[in-house]
Amino acid sequence: MEAVRLWRVRRTRAATWFVQMKKLWRTQGIGDGETRLIAGESAHHKPRPNHDDRDGPRLSLPGRRSSQFQIAERANMSRVPIEPQRVEAPLTQSATFLVVTVEDSPEATKVVRSVLSRIDDISKNVSIRDLAAQFACTVGIGAKVWDRVMGLPRPSELHPFREFKGAKHVAVSTPGDLLFHIRSERRDLCFEFEKQLLDLLGASVKMVDETVGFRYFDVRDLLGFVDGTANPVGAAVQASVVVTADDDSHVVGGSYVVVQKYVHDMAAWNKLPTETQEAIIGRTKWDNVELDDAPEGKQAAHKTLASIEDENGVEYDILRDNMPFGNPGSGEFGTYFIGYSRKLWVIEKMLERMFVGYPPGLHDRLLDYSTPLTGSTFFVPSASMLARLGNG
Ligand code: HEM
Repeated sequence: MEAVRLWRVRRTRAATWFVQMKKLWRTQGIGDGETRLIAGESAHHKPRPNHDDRDGPRLSLPGRRSSQFQIAERANMSRVPIEPQRVEAPLTQSATFLVVTVEDSPEATKVVRSVLSRIDDISKNVSIRDLAAQFACTVGIGAKVWDRVMGLPRPSELHPFREFKGAKHVAVSTPGDLLFHIRSERRDLCFEFEKQLLDLLGASVKMVDETVGFRYFDVRDLLGFVDGTANPVGAAVQASVVVTADDDSHVVGGSYVVVQKYVHDMAAWNKLPTETQEAIIGRTKWDNVELDDAPEGKQAAHKTLASIEDENGVEYDILRDNMPFGNPGSGEFGTYFIGYSRKLWVIEKMLERMFVGYPPGLHDRLLDYSTPLTGSTFFVPSASMLARLGNG
């Protein structure tokens, strides 16, 4: 009798467990076949062939193909961390921008080389703890330390940030040997990575600037405009950002990056009528629609001054990942500008047109409300170039 009672209890427990699991699978959109699709096929289960499937045999139930694809994609996307130096890594909710100088000693150079060669490992320490948070880090090296840190020919366009002085505004050039652009959906992952990184770098570097940026609503800057719309997409991203063998055979796969930390005069900006703000930016504020360019020779909008064409009418894009930062309590409201480009001259041309004006004198009116406190230029070597620093 006792044996029968125990058997009944076990059967009830097993049935309850099965019902609960089914509920869970359903809420996650996972059916039996789909579970195997993610986990890899079990030797004990024969695949149920799906005859209408043109992409080859797959485990599927009728009418569930799209959810299977989504699940497989999700599984792949969160299977591995994002490699370091992927400048096109996703836009995230949080980012930290670190600019440091490297102490002028052989010991400091040695430490920096060793730490940079291990960026991949330090990133993994953090990224694996929540793959969905899309942690990514890119390191840029400044012209002043390129030779001693990289020990390789300098990228052909790399030089310290070039100052641009207009009649009213200056794009200042400030020190910076290394840039760390640290991104994640989670602020705590950025924080943890920075902590581990700085522990390892120790006294070999001096902090110049540490800015923590955040996403503001629908990727708006603190001036209230959607920022990043005209970024390249698809194949144009690589074409705009990644140095090729034709450009510079020593640093293939790398990218130039320019950063500037701007603070805004919000009181003055907020006094402007919305139409004036829109004319300054070149887009409508609420629905982000691009406005027509002003006639040639008249005051141009920011988006026009930042659009660069060569003499053949070929347009050159850059990849921006600007982030708002600030502290309302201390009245600080800013935009951290970061632009990646395959060609440094493209960003410099943008800065010249913004600060000196095009035509000269008609500077970017955005600068009457936004002042750059910093300005530095770096080159982001490919991940394999960084890893090789560990060889000696
Ligand atoms: C205070 C700093 C800045 C703010 C708040 C800002 C904001 C904006 C906004 C709202 C747009 C329009 C939407 C878009 O396409 O993203 C824009 C466009 C753009 N900005 Fe800026 N920007 C700043 C600085 C810069 C700097 C320093 C550069 C380059 C050196 C730059 C390059 C561009 C480019 C290339 C575009 C796209 C132009 C096009 O339509 O093709 N921005 N910016």
